[in-house]
Amino acid sequence: MTDIASLQSQILADIAAAGDETALDAVRVATLGKKGSVSALLATMGKLSPEERKVQGPLFNGLKDAVAEAIAVRKAELADAALDARLASETVDVTLPPAPENGGTVHPISQVLEEITAIFADLGFAVAEGPDVEFDDYNFTKLNIPPDHPARQMQDTFYVSPQADGSSHVLRTHTSPVQVRAMLAAGKPPIRVISPGRTYRVDSDATHSPMFHQVEALVVDEGIHLGHLKWTVEEFCKAFFEIDQIELRARPSFFPFTEPSLEWDMRCDRSVPGQIRFGTGNDWLELGGSGMVHRKVLENCGFDAQKYTGFAFGFGLDRMAMLKYGIPDIRSFFESDLRWLRHYGFAALDIPTLDGGLSK
Ligand code: DAH
Repeated sequence: MTDIASLQSQILADIAAAGDETALDAVRVATLGKKGSVSALLATMGKLSPEERKVQGPLFNGLKDAVAEAIAVRKAELADAALDARLASETVDVTLPPAPENGGTVHPISQVLEEITAIFADLGFAVAEGPDVEFDDYNFTKLNIPPDHPARQMQDTFYVSPQADGSSHVLRTHTSPVQVRAMLAAGKPPIRVISPGRTYRVDSDATHSPMFHQVEALVVDEGIHLGHLKWTVEEFCKAFFEIDQIELRARPSFFPFTEPSLEWDMRCDRSVPGQIRFGTGNDWLELGGSGMVHRKVLENCGFDAQKYTGFAFGFGLDRMAMLKYGIPDIRSFFESDLRWLRHYGFAALDIPTLDGGLSK
């Protein structure tokens, strides 16, 4: 009679010694396959007397299970090792600047980000930053969107599991929480910041990506009014689209963190297919939301709302890049297709400046 224990230890040793998936599969065929040693053993059960079967049956099946389990474990190990080896051999230092001699280019989003920063730097704005994984409190509550407020449903949020200390986080659904961070950090006015960055919502089609970009602007001081907001939006659009003549339209809107709230559209002409022209035509292009910072938001950030007022806006950066550079599908930004990057990318050393030209 076959010594099951020694057969098992031999098979387990073979499994452990299998150096790749092909070798492991050969062991599987030689043991559990139709003509394999374990299968052959199981086939002898029929010939055993009922008493013998009672004793041998569990031993045979135990062997079969042990072999199957060891193969599964080894298979997972080999897959992990193969992945590690692949990752090690394909290591890319993503922090390296694009090398023009390798055909590396600046991504249109990075380009637009630089352009916007240059425009606002010229207007005296600093750049403020916040994390992608944001406190629920900053993304919503301090912006006057308390828990259970229906406005939370306006934004399809990616929630992060609650932390041990009870604080809850989200992937920020907009750049507006950076308003809160900027106010808390400054402690007192004047504040004049923009904050471009990544934002996240559960949404995906040709015009929506689950990760997208916004640029937030915030100004708080004594005597700030809607006229300042309008002037800033106008100057920004003229500089960004690199045209002297634009026409803006403000529509009343609602955001819990502004009062009043406005959305801005820019006049454009889309009558020629595949082309868009600004400043003329009968179409309107949506830029994004804005308003006078809500008194409660100022107070939540420790500011005296009797004394200070502010304006803010949050525009979709990807959409602005798509319009300026004629990119039809938002998803192509994030597909890392080298041909696309070569076509739409920018030369690495052409840093956008107002006097040197933003996009030339
Ligand atoms: N955070 C808003 C959104 O993503 C956009 C927005 C509206 C930003 C009004 C603002 C604002 O700063 O004042 O839908």
